[in-house]
Amino acid sequence: MSQHILTAVAWPYANGPRHIGHVSGFGVPSDVFSRYQRMAGNKVLMVSGTDEHGTPIQVQADKEGVTARELADRYNRVIAEDLTGLGLSYDLFTRTSTRNHYAVTQEIFKGLYDNGYIFPKTTMGAISPSTGRTLPDRYIEGTCPICGYDGARGDQCDNCGNQLDPIQLINPKSRINGETPVFTETEHFMLDLPAFAEVLGSYLQSKQGDWRPNVLKFALNLLGDLQPRAISRDLDWGVPIPLDGWRDQPNKRLYVWFDAVIGYLSASIEWARRSGDPDAWRQWWQNPDARGYYFMGKDNIVFHAEIWPAMLFGYSGQGARDGRPGSLGKLDVPSEVVSSEFLTMEGRKFSSSRQVVIYVRDFLARYDADALRYYIAVAGPETQDTDFTWQEFVNRNNGELVAAWGNLVNRSISMAAKNFGQIPEPGDLTDADRALLQRSREAFGPVGAELGRSRFKNAITEALDVVRDANRYLAEQEPWKLKDDPERQKSILHVALQVVDDAKTMLTPFLPGSSNKVHAMLGGEGVWAGMPEIREVDEDGGPSYPVITGDYADGARWEHRPIQPGTPLAPPVPLFKKLDPKVVDEELARLGE
Ligand code: MF3
Ligand code: ZN
Repeated sequence: MSQHILTAVAWPYANGPRHIGHVSGFGVPSDVFSRYQRMAGNKVLMVSGTDEHGTPIQVQADKEGVTARELADRYNRVIAEDLTGLGLSYDLFTRTSTRNHYAVTQEIFKGLYDNGYIFPKTTMGAISPSTGRTLPDRYIEGTCPICGYDGARGDQCDNCGNQLDPIQLINPKSRINGETPVFTETEHFMLDLPAFAEVLGSYLQSKQGDWRPNVLKFALNLLGDLQPRAISRDLDWGVPIPLDGWRDQPNKRLYVWFDAVIGYLSASIEWARRSGDPDAWRQWWQNPDARGYYFMGKDNIVFHAEIWPAMLFGYSGQGARDGRPGSLGKLDVPSEVVSSEFLTMEGRKFSSSRQVVIYVRDFLARYDADALRYYIAVAGPETQDTDFTWQEFVNRNNGELVAAWGNLVNRSISMAAKNFGQIPEPGDLTDADRALLQRSREAFGPVGAELGRSRFKNAITEALDVVRDANRYLAEQEPWKLKDDPERQKSILHVALQVVDDAKTMLTPFLPGSSNKVHAMLGGEGVWAGMPEIREVDEDGGPSYPVITGDYADGARWEHRPIQPGTPLAPPVPLFKKLDPKVVDEELARLGE
């Protein structure tokens, strides 16, 4: 049965180019998942965009001496290019500064407000004494009053997971310049999280055994300490508060996280409008058979497993105060929050300022997208923090992509092309032939099951095992020694090419670019794995902006397809670049190691 699957991918801040730590958390996993789901016949809507409001943007804009809007314009474009270069198949990658996003955000605010889940409160806000500007929660660091952890932030403690107010921190310091903030009175709107304790509790409990255990544990832990949370800020860059007396205040805006999570919905609505059927988004948001999967790094769990569901419940009229759904209607909460852990770089935290970083665009200038996608899938931070090392990257590239998969493709296609010029007709099959064919055909089940559960490492390992078995088969059958027995040689090469075709299909979610090459080498026609592209769009003649979109529905299917004898074959081109071991030292030198 075909299902509607919403793939909701965390929105990168438009405050700089993306590095491989970012894309290993939200980017590549969500794309592998979406590509698999489309191949399995499901209707996928994959949305995201740049997150352009709030302090992260303002702080960087100040640093670069431009306005927040100029900065967002600049990096929205850069990031769209980074993600397109990686082959990430967004149906729509947009931005939070669109009129549509403002309208949808304000609608959600009003729905929550009308149902009584948002209330005003006078709070103590932190001000930077040197600039007079508000110092956002995330930019204040100190000791956690609950667990004593030293690096707690003003909004939450990453160690114990508790929400905090900056004023609770012991010994608070600005992360921007180290000064001690002063606290003054200011009025803000609060989201009444305690009113959702019950709905959130039963929601999360129902996910036992379904979500990754570390994600669920973290989320359940948060329930113990639900407090009202400020959803506005003293700032001039962001979505205005849609209430009389507030709308026109130049220095009150909605909190960036409040508007950002709404991006999943607003982007779905924008996508529907652009697709010509303005109501099409409802099939992913108001459909008991639809599933929504949210991909992010673990520092985002609280916003996706607690705050966003609370907002959706409240807008839909579910919570301690009940209420009525807003004008968009009742909205579905996430089916799964698929969070990954952190990636470090050669044993250190990624840091742009300390140059411990490799940007996506620099990476892609020197290596192929599929080489990085492969590394992230097989060795990324799926369920535990992991370290990227250049040595491991080179080893895996040369040992697994080049020597195992590339070599299988290359030697079977080139031998068949040279000897027969086409896919050969098999004769009688031996037990070994049949065993390998069966092995490869049967792998679609388990590999697909792992992909459907976002267990990417297991899935790609299983697919690569088929490749290794095929290489072993060729080593045993030695078709290159069978010049005098062309009939047997044909059978062996037929079997090998069939397994190449199966493996190409199973590897497509991970390696779409190289799978397209194998598809063409095997004489395939048409697009196999659709690739994203950047298009310039606007809103009713307003300023234009780039979006990522594409046509991904046709082509690859998650199934074994019998190859057709007689299909012409051309001599193959190498699939992957073998890397000189020197690369490791060069890259380490770039990192200043
Ligand atoms: N910009 C945030 C970050 O990089 C992620 C936002 S995800 C969102 O941590 F969808 F909520 F926007
Ligand atoms: Zn703590």
